[in-house]
Amino acid sequence: MRVLSNTAISLDGRIHTRDERPPVLGSRHDLRRMRVLRGQVDAVLVGGATFRRWPIAALPDEDALARRTQPFWNIVVTRRADIVPKPAFIAEQRIKKLILTTPQYKTPPFETEIDVCPQEDIDVKWMLRALERRGIGSVLIEAGGDLIAQFLAADLVDEMFVTICPILIGGKNSASLVDGGGFLAEQVPKLTLQHIERVEDEVYLHYFVKKRQSDR
Ligand SMILES: NC(=O)c1ccc[n+]([C@@H]2O[C@H](COP(=O)([O-])OP(=O)(O)OC[C@H]3O[C@@H](n4cnc5c(N)ncnc54)[C@H](OP(=O)(O)O)[C@@H]3O)[C@@H](O)[C@H]2O)c1
Repeated sequence: MRVLSNTAISLDGRIHTRDERPPVLGSRHDLRRMRVLRGQVDAVLVGGATFRRWPIAALPDEDALARRTQPFWNIVVTRRADIVPKPAFIAEQRIKKLILTTPQYKTPPFETEIDVCPQEDIDVKWMLRALERRGIGSVLIEAGGDLIAQFLAADLVDEMFVTICPILIGGKNSASLVDGGGFLAEQVPKLTLQHIERVEDEVYLHYFVKKRQSDR
């Protein structure tokens, strides 16, 4: 399984403002780039909090979608499935929907596949096995720092795409690119810079994440 992440961050590493209102992160060019990236994978995965913020379909660009011979998946990881999508998401036939959840979930008000993990905190390896069972070979994580931290802690992220946006957000407790409990010095994920590009005031970074066994 190839695991990628893509996040737009402020210069100070934050991923949303306290009031969750504009200025949103990422320009039109960044959004186009995001759709191109989606075209390189089989699925987009987000957490419940991110989906509640953007309850819409995550689609690749039209060319990539037209070339696909396998379904394109939108996956939400959520403990209770307390999510209400926009009608356009429910009606969207070009994606297959999957909810990875726990026994406490409430039945969502739309047609979707549901996979229930017996644990309250779904293990990221279990998430990837659920994807593999469906023939999904690559996934793009478009979640916030909570889920990305869990995938990094499990050493399961292969590549990270980061857009540095020309704004500052601040805030001691603001969500950031990687949240969770934080890594100890000997466990910090290390990365190799593959590509850097600037378009106007935005900077696009593409990193490979070093696998721990290969570098320690
Ligand atoms: N700038 C960007 O590129 C970008 C990208 C994505 C998100 N964001 C922002 O990030 C914010 C959300 O970030 P976040 O890190 O708090 O949320 P997130 O990515 O949605 O992940 C957290 C949510 O995922 C579910 N979850 C996480 N780990 C789980 C586990 N092990 N087992 C079961 N469920 C699990 C839970 O959903 P439930 O609460 O439903 O149980 C949890 O609330 C949003 O406000 C959004 O604006 C920004």
